[in-house]
Amino acid sequence: MNPIQPRHYLQFRDLSRDEYQYLFRRSALIKKRFKQYQVHQPLVDRTLAMIFEKHSTRTRLSFEAGMHQLGGAAIYINTRDSQLGRGEPIEDAAQVFSRMVDLVMIRTFGQDIVERFAAHSRVPVINGLTNEFHPCQVLADVFTYIEHRGEIAGKVVAWIGDANNMLYTWLQAAAILGFRVHFSGPAGYGVDLQRPGYAVSEAEQQCLRCFDDPLQACEGVHLVTTDVWTSMGYEAENAQRLRAFQGFMVDQRMMRAADPRALFMHCLPAHRGEEVQAEVIDGAQSVVWDEAENRLHVQKALMEFMLLGRLPD
Ligand code: CP
Ligand code: NVA
Repeated sequence: MNPIQPRHYLQFRDLSRDEYQYLFRRSALIKKRFKQYQVHQPLVDRTLAMIFEKHSTRTRLSFEAGMHQLGGAAIYINTRDSQLGRGEPIEDAAQVFSRMVDLVMIRTFGQDIVERFAAHSRVPVINGLTNEFHPCQVLADVFTYIEHRGEIAGKVVAWIGDANNMLYTWLQAAAILGFRVHFSGPAGYGVDLQRPGYAVSEAEQQCLRCFDDPLQACEGVHLVTTDVWTSMGYEAENAQRLRAFQGFMVDQRMMRAADPRALFMHCLPAHRGEEVQAEVIDGAQSVVWDEAENRLHVQKALMEFMLLGRLPD
């Protein structure tokens, strides 16, 4: 174990409501200045290592471009061509990475892997998706909601489909930021309140309401969101999942049941005709491209915060 214990971002609950409020304000400022071509390079000479044990388009692009824009450098490492793929212990890797770089982002399988890495790291570690959580994505999603509709506290988000890493992260966000989540998914793929090691807290349970009927789950809600039926790492279950999730595609009926100003989000990549109807993801209520773009801006604010703390405007 390291004597130096930096702060990490491994789950959404690792930051407080007050820190999120700062980050959302900061993200808006960073985005605005970037759009005006104002150079903002507080991380000159700093390096981010990005470790990928699963595929990625958005996460790699946004962290790599973001670090470059902040004046630093990003190094891409994957399991296939690093020693991680040949069995080097994650604890040893953490020691080595954190003596050479200033920040580490990891996308991997079990949450225990990022936790073990963080426990042996001298520098902050960011979860870039695990089987259990995807905090950077929900950070971008909440920011996107606020950008379009203002305050999220008091609102209702409908999650239709698989109770996966995104759903559990939305639940943490709901408890911290004060909104509610309606969940609807097929039997056998519902919310596991006692997930081994990562039980849903009392406060999170208070924010959750489960529905058998997805149409009912969408009634009057302010945001409808979904994700793939088969997450990375679960590919062997794909055929079985395709059958089980029939009837849970987000469609225009569900969007009509929602509040007239409801938004649609999907963290992407999406499968039109499976978890979402093309008319919904490509329709007027969909903000999926803003959501993807905002990964860049919120993660710039997050990296800056983790390395430099709060900065004045
Ligand atoms: N939404 C998301 O994390 O996308 P990637 O898998 O492409 O990184
Ligand atoms: N739930 C999906 C999200 C992909 C960004 C997965 O884990 O594969």
